[in-house]
Order: sequence, then C-alpha cells, then structure tokens
Amino acid sequence: MGPLDWDPGSLAVDPDPHATLAWVRSGGSVRPLTSSFWVVTGHAAALEVLRHPDVRSAPVGDVYASLLPPGAARDEMAHRINFLDPPDHPRVRGLVSTAFTPRRVHAVRPWVEDTARRLLDGIEARLDRLDGTVDLLAEFAHQVPSLVISELLGVPAEDRDELTAFSDAVSPLLSVRVDPDDLAAAVAAAESFHRYLAALVEDRRERPGDDLLSALCVAEEHGERLSMPELLSLTATLYSAGHRTTRDLVTNGLAALLEDPDRYRRVVDGSWSVTDTVGEFLRTQTPTLYVARVTATDCEFDGTAVPAGAPVLVFLAAANRDPAVHAEPDEFAPGRDGPQPLSFAFGAHYCLGANLARLEAEVMLASVCERWPDLEQAEVPTWHQRGPFRGVDRLLVRPR
Ligand code: HEM
Repeated sequence: MGPLDWDPGSLAVDPDPHATLAWVRSGGSVRPLTSSFWVVTGHAAALEVLRHPDVRSAPVGDVYASLLPPGAARDEMAHRINFLDPPDHPRVRGLVSTAFTPRRVHAVRPWVEDTARRLLDGIEARLDRLDGTVDLLAEFAHQVPSLVISELLGVPAEDRDELTAFSDAVSPLLSVRVDPDDLAAAVAAAESFHRYLAALVEDRRERPGDDLLSALCVAEEHGERLSMPELLSLTATLYSAGHRTTRDLVTNGLAALLEDPDRYRRVVDGSWSVTDTVGEFLRTQTPTLYVARVTATDCEFDGTAVPAGAPVLVFLAAANRDPAVHAEPDEFAPGRDGPQPLSFAFGAHYCLGANLARLEAEVMLASVCERWPDLEQAEVPTWHQRGPFRGVDRLLVRPR
C-alpha cells in the first residue's frame, strides 16, 4: 500500500475525528503519508515509538523554533521540556522533579476540594441571574486548574486572567500550520509572558516562598541549575500545560457523560467510580490528540520499517481506541479491562502533571455530581482543535 493522501490538519474541522482515525488505522497501525509525515494509530506501535531509544523530540522543537523570529517565543520552543532530548532532558526533568514532588501534589488536594466547593457555591448563588443555565467550562472547569497551577507556582491570583490570555495566545505555535495573524499575536504574547515571569523569578530569588517557582529557582542536582531561558520556558509550559488540558479533560468528559443521562446517573449513584470514570474520560476524550517525534535512525514499529529522519505523529487518541487492546473501543465503559490510557504519553516524556491532573479531574467530577445529581446538558456542545489539543467550546448545562 502506498503513502496515504491524508492531511492530519483536516482533523481540526472533522465532525468525527475518532471515526477518521479508525479509518486511518484500518490501513495499518503505522502509515506513511504523501506529505512525508508518518502516522501511528495503533496501541502497540505507539508504545514502541514512545520508548524507542532512537526516537527524538528535539528536532520537533527545532522546526517550531526555526519558524520564529529571535525572542521569547523562539526561546520558549527551543527550551521547552517536551522538545528536549538527552542529555538536556534528563537534567531538566530531574531538576523539575525535585521541585514538583508527589508530596507537593498530594498536599494540594484539600485546597482543590475547597476551591471547587467555593466555585460551585458562587455559581449556585448566581443561578437565577444566569437564567438557570451555566457554562461549566468558563465558570468551573477552567477556573479550578488555573487557580491550582497559579497557587502551586505562586502566581498572584489577580494576575491569572492576564497570564491565561498570554498562554492561550502562545498555544497556536504548537500547530503544524500557524495563521500569520496568530503568529504575530503569539510572538507578542510570549514577550509579555516572559517579561512577567522574569520579574516573578527575580522576586522569588530575593524572597523565596513555599511555592513551586521558588523551588525551581533553587533546584539543584549534581551542581546543575536551570538556566534563565530554561526556567522561563519551563514556567510558561507548566502554566499552560497545567490548566488547558485538565480543563479539556473535564469538559470533554462531562460532555460525554451528559450526552446520555444514564451515564451521568451511574456516576451519581456510585455504579461507576469517579476514578474509573476519569480513566474513561482520558481514554475516550483524550485532550492531547497526538505527540510528535522524529526518528534518528532507521526504525521498525509494529513490524513496519520507518526510515531515519521521518517526522512521526503518534495519535494517542487513536491508540486509546485501538480494538486490538480494547473490546468495543468506542463504548464509554468505566472500569473496563485493558491497558492504562496513553493520554499522558509514555516513556521519558510521560506527563509530569499526570497525578495532579487526575486529582483535579476527580475532585471536579465528584463535586459536580454531589452538588447537582440531576444535571442536564442545555445544548449539544461544539468542538475545536488547536494544534494537538481538542476540546468543547463551552459546556452549557442546567444545574439541578
Ligand atoms: C488532563 C491533563 C493533561 C494531559 C492530557 C497531559 C498530557 C501530556 C502529554 C501527552 C505529554 C507528553 C508530551 C510529549 O510526549 O511530547 C505531557 C507532558 C508534560 N505535561 Fe502534561 N498533561 C496534562 C496535565 C498536566 C499538568 C496539570 C501539568 C503540570 C502542572 C503538566 C505538565 C507537563 C509537563 C511539564 C510535560 C513535559 C514532560 C517531559 O517532557 O518530560 N501536564 N502532558
């Protein structure tokens, strides 16, 4: 079979991307495209790519950086942790891990629970004015992770909206194709974002607190520290990775639950545990559709030879619905047998925030179910895809 004439960018306007990815997979789990990209849609192949010692991330960052003028946006791409390879990657990841400890994540749970409760109280108090319907994305699912990552990093809560706007403006840079207007806005936003973060770093260096940024400023392993460009890129990455995908996980997942009222009821009455349900959110509503890699040598994935220098898109969303590992893969079935979802990737770049994201999603889902056992969707949501990130535009619901 020759290369497939398919544009992965077309998924952004595809009403049913999962059906399209299943169609791509039906011709093989690892396939070349006419554009020179390779796409991986099978579970076994995705695991092989993500743990292969001759598969690189840095060339992906280099391509993104090369499209940008010198400045903050380019620095951010060049130093972004998920685009680093050894020896930089283990050094930077090791330093972040000393600051971003499981203890720090565990300790934040009561704060997350309290924040979720306060936000739901606020919505309830305004329900009359909101005409009985509320956008749970804007009013809740965005607020919780953005407050949590601000609190963890030690970003003043009043600066949150500004930083969210910067990070949203920078995010199109992670697309294969960037609209020229978005590019100009992203470059400008990255300058402002880094200027803000540099001032915050200076402040923490003079007056260290009990926050993650202070810990990152002093993190040291084997006499190594993070350079200023690394620290700025990492903080910007943590800020954006810390809220967008978690928001999308919860809203995409709630949209799937509310599509069929019986599903929502099963979580409310405990037939489906919150943990299993969030696991199924991750598997079926994967917020990061794909990750990108480049082969450094001739490789073989799931029996298919891929030449050196090939850009490879690993579709986590498709691997999660591979019928070779999940029976009835499109069914929403919390507690099902089978491997853990690959939504946080796998191997050296496995998501550093996975435990935090699961914790936040579980607290948010449990809080909503407890507060509104008869919650209903008020409209069928529309979806967007920006770069690899897929989510609903808003989640209009009727709390009851
Ligand atoms: C549902 C929520 C989340 C999803 C689906 C998600 C997904 C991912 C994925 C797929 C990767 C791998 C990227 C690659 O291999 O190229 C990744 C890496 C990463 N994530 Fe997350 N993430 C989530 C939440 C978070 C949170 C809450 C944080 C931090 C507070 C975070 C921080 C990071 C960082 C720093 C990396 C880079 C790790 C490395 O390259 O070594 N993520 N995430």
